[in-house]
Amino acid sequence: MTVRFARETESERVNELRKQVNDLHVNGRPDIFKPGFSRELADHIDTIWNDPDQKIVVCEREGVICGFAVLHHIRKPENPFMFERDFLDIDEFCVDEAQRRTGVATEMIAFIRSYAKTQGFDRIELNMWEFNGDALAFYEAVGFTTYRRYMEMRI
Ligand SMILES: CC(C)(COP(=O)(O)OP(=O)(O)OC[C@H]1O[C@@H](n2cnc3c(N)ncnc32)[C@H](O)[C@@H]1OP(=O)(O)O)[C@@H](O)C(=O)NCCC(=O)NCCS
Repeated sequence: MTVRFARETESERVNELRKQVNDLHVNGRPDIFKPGFSRELADHIDTIWNDPDQKIVVCEREGVICGFAVLHHIRKPENPFMFERDFLDIDEFCVDEAQRRTGVATEMIAFIRSYAKTQGFDRIELNMWEFNGDALAFYEAVGFTTYRRYMEMRI
């Protein structure tokens, strides 16, 4: 398998995988996520292409894109509470459901980590939904740790 930055001609396939993530989120939190895969959500990929701070990584196996990640360079200015923060955020991440548990995501994280290092970042960040136990198990398996939590109370 090869992990590399995506080409704009691969948007349609990347959007098929983006839909898988959206369906999973809709299933887990139908009160928050909009069902289906709207034109607006599909077209969001153009915003990513046009933003110099965002990049799409893909994993290709036997000529087929089987995973993707969206990387986002985030800069948060200093404020009265916090120092300035500058890090690489993984905004979206998915492996085709037919190809899971074969090491694709692990290869993508290795690529992203090495890219982040060459770009001078000292941390990679991501956020995920609590219902997504599979993702948590994966992220912990490759070395991510939880440093912050969102909590809620249903009324
Ligand atoms: C989470 C996800 C990216 C993992 O991708 P993957 O290619 O299947 O992961 P890997 O094959 O590299 O797994 C590496 C290790 O992570 C752990 N792991 C991965 N998926 C797991 C699962 N469903 N349950 C428990 N552990 C898991 C295991 O330790 C695994 O090693 P093993 O297969 O030798 O036991 C994939 O399940 C996915 O795309 N899910 C849907 C989208 C999603 O949730 N994205 C992230 C949140 S936006």
